[in-house]
Amino acid sequence: MVPLQSLMSWTALATSAVAVAVYPDKPADLATPVQQRIAIDGPNSMAISWNTYEHVAQACVDWGTSAAYLPNTVCASKESVTYPSSRTWFHSLVLSDLDPATTYYYKIQGGDSEVEHFLSPRASGDKTPFSMNAIIDLGAYGQDGYTISGNKGRLDDIPKIPMSMNHTTIGRLATTIEDYELIVHPGDLGYADTWARNPKNKNDGENAFAAILERFYLQLAPISQRKPYMVSPGNHEAACELTHHKSKFCPAGQKNFTDFRVRFGDNMPTAFESKSDDEQARINANKAKALANPPFWFSFEYGMAHVVMIDTETDFKDAPDGIGGIDGLDSGPFGAPNQQLEFLEADLASVDRSVTPWLVVAGHRPWYVANGPGCVSCKATFEPLFYKYGVDVGIFGHVHNSQRYLPAYDGVADPAGLYDPKATMYVISGGTGNIEGLEEFKKIPHFNAFAYNHDFAYATLRFEDAQNLRVDFIRSSTGDILDTSSLYKSHNDRFVRQDLGDQLEI
Ligand SMILES: *[C@@H]1O[C@H](CO)[C@@H](O)[C@H](O)[C@H]1NC(C)=O
Ligand SMILES: *[C@@H]1O[C@H](CO)[C@@H](O)[C@H](O)[C@H]1NC(C)=O
Repeated sequence: MVPLQSLMSWTALATSAVAVAVYPDKPADLATPVQQRIAIDGPNSMAISWNTYEHVAQACVDWGTSAAYLPNTVCASKESVTYPSSRTWFHSLVLSDLDPATTYYYKIQGGDSEVEHFLSPRASGDKTPFSMNAIIDLGAYGQDGYTISGNKGRLDDIPKIPMSMNHTTIGRLATTIEDYELIVHPGDLGYADTWARNPKNKNDGENAFAAILERFYLQLAPISQRKPYMVSPGNHEAACELTHHKSKFCPAGQKNFTDFRVRFGDNMPTAFESKSDDEQARINANKAKALANPPFWFSFEYGMAHVVMIDTETDFKDAPDGIGGIDGLDSGPFGAPNQQLEFLEADLASVDRSVTPWLVVAGHRPWYVANGPGCVSCKATFEPLFYKYGVDVGIFGHVHNSQRYLPAYDGVADPAGLYDPKATMYVISGGTGNIEGLEEFKKIPHFNAFAYNHDFAYATLRFEDAQNLRVDFIRSSTGDILDTSSLYKSHNDRFVRQDLGDQLEI
């Protein structure tokens, strides 16, 4: 995709009529990095991204393997960018040639920045156990965000996170920071478009939108500056969900996934080259790499997992946020016709289970839900590919509660249950906390195994070994494990190809 290059002049932002939006404080030195976030960029590289409240001529990071000695410096090859309605500039660069699974220290140059650290990506095929958190529909805490008072856990060694500790899920992500290695967040990130829920913001939407975004990414930074934060889009990134995009109340900079594209377009990966010794697998992986379109659809590998991030919002038949889509968001397309599907098929086909036994796909809108039909066009588009290539786990959100489904295909539970099923096991981790609150269950399908909506919670996938995966749902306010399940997959076939007719046997 082509990142937006629309540089705004600073003064142009001061023209809004009735100023009611409450912005977070700016740092005294405007070059100070804020909203820091890191992402897996490739097998041996990590993207470092952040914002500043002033244009920065050159964005650079010092780094090394000791907090006290940062001998390497890398600078961004691009100018910093912004877009209308943002108060901040966006920066992104990549630290390359990293050793796998090694702790690196980094310090963004400028203002009052501090040394942070991360674990570099585990090499594809590394069978060391690790955990990945699935966080969907998160949202900001406080002004124009959700306001349920939270648990005050211990802060560990994370500096400066007063606001995030009030957000029970971000707070729990902080207190458990040593328990997981990365986060996937497929959609509905900051809920900035929900400024319209507060009537007083009506004539100040542009600022209210920007203020919520700033607050959300400030709250998340203590987590996202240390753990790879991998995103794909949801409907709230579109982002005039509540104020029609054609209405005068939908400001420029708030349409067609603008913030999402500017913020994440340069730091999500495409797809990895295959480590398989099978030639066709390598060809498919290269094809997927060429068709990937970050931050909308892409994949990465981490240890024993191959993770695909998909776009359930645009770029497939009857996509809900596409032009003429049912949600009226008229966004995209972001790729050529069929590009996302061709990417997905090539990517899934490339996965060699002897290298990465676990195949996980994360997207925003689920098709198995407990309050209606779910995303029908998503099911029609994606589910056959999930089945054909034996996707082990599907991670979704969009509905604001926690759910787990037994492996199922086309509405039929796999008779193998959790013991070597052919069908995909579905996890919904959409009850993590946002202004819209938790959603009720109206009609729970028979193959639902867990449904919880009393409090904010999230799912942790624990990759134990090549055959065993444990999924825990954790209650954010208390840390209690609400549900735990173990999926066994033999992963005997290096390349899974299941006949869709097989469903008749299950
Ligand atoms: C977070 O909680 C603290 C302590 O209860 C409180 O002082 C502060 O105002 C809260 N912050 C927000 C943004 O609600
Ligand atoms: C949204 O942005 C993409 C990428 O720049 C562009 O191709 C598409 O036409 C835009 N859609 C709308 C409705 O503006």
